[in-house]
Amino acid sequence: MTLKIGWIGCGTHAGQMLLPQLVRLDVEIAALCDTNAERLAGIARRYGVRETYANAADLIAHAGLDAIGMAVGPAAHYEIGLKVLQRGLPLFMEKPPAATVDEAERLAEAASRADLPVVVGFMKRYATGNRMAHNIIEEGRFGRVLGIMGWYLTAPTYFTGAADYNGFFLHHCVHYMDLVPWMAGAAVEDVTVRSVENGSGRLLLHASLALASGAIATIAMGTVQSRGNPVELLQITGDHHRIEVSNVSDIVWYRDPPFKAGDPAATLNDAADALMWRPNLTAAANEDHKGYHAMLKAALAALRGEVSDAPRIADGVAALRTLSRMQDCIAGAAR
Ligand SMILES: NC(=O)c1ccc[n+]([C@@H]2O[C@H](COP(=O)([O-])OP(=O)(O)OC[C@H]3O[C@@H](n4cnc5c(N)ncnc54)[C@H](O)[C@@H]3O)[C@@H](O)[C@H]2O)c1
Repeated sequence: MTLKIGWIGCGTHAGQMLLPQLVRLDVEIAALCDTNAERLAGIARRYGVRETYANAADLIAHAGLDAIGMAVGPAAHYEIGLKVLQRGLPLFMEKPPAATVDEAERLAEAASRADLPVVVGFMKRYATGNRMAHNIIEEGRFGRVLGIMGWYLTAPTYFTGAADYNGFFLHHCVHYMDLVPWMAGAAVEDVTVRSVENGSGRLLLHASLALASGAIATIAMGTVQSRGNPVELLQITGDHHRIEVSNVSDIVWYRDPPFKAGDPAATLNDAADALMWRPNLTAAANEDHKGYHAMLKAALAALRGEVSDAPRIADGVAALRTLSRMQDCIAGAAR
């Protein structure tokens, strides 16, 4: 069944990443909304959508919609999200689901009361290398996840004028505060943070997370790297196992090989040596290694009420809770 979607927010992310992947799936964009008339008209023209609204409430009231999608921003995700649930429609929203933990919790309660799915766009779970790492762990051959080290940096692009790190936490760090517990299969129970600033807006922090499974994680995040270089690295450590995912795509699974140097007959052993995979970026195929397409496919299944592993609002609440603890920790250290 073609899903009739009402879409709110025709900005950069929707226009460049989400909608091009969404329309590859079995959907009809039945109506669009943006407060910016120029952006709204541009996206409507691109996808041939006739029904357009400057106001989210009017789009939500549009007749015949099966679900709503939106990519606007934290405050709007919460406020508009509540209205979508009141209208009785399933909802996909970009991260973050709200600006505060309290708001995200209220959204989760409203979703539960309405018995409607609210999917949050944590697409890093679907990036090719991350997904493969998770699958290896789920298969059981990796054993227990003992630790995760991560590196997820960006540039000081979140600031115009005075540095307010809130946007960096909400829009950037939130991804790894979902990815890490998902990869470890356990909730974050405690957080401590050390940070260093190299002038206004240039922050580096190391967050140390304790997970409910007993696993530990250290994640470096910050605003001091060029986005012209790769800025993501994930290392998952088990007992005589280690998976490294770099640039969300390249993956190596280190296992338990014998020493090679002293063995003149040494060769590569299928069962013990490292396995690696790297994408062919020249393939003339619409591959989406960052995970937007796969995430939206899972999201649509959830919106249809089918079985789906799409991240839900509860995952958004958990990620915001971890972020809030991190911010408290940094603020406490500054006092
Ligand atoms: N997962 C990712 O990789 C990723 C990347 C970028 C952005 N995002 C998320 O997507 C969201 C949007 O980011 P963006 O970069 O596209 O921002 P943006 O500012 O380019 O787009 C937001 C759009 O929403 C519109 N808008 C604002 N208030 C509105 C309202 N009340 N009703 C209707 N439209 C409204 C704006 O006019 C704008 O066109 C953010 O939550 C951000 O964190 C996710």
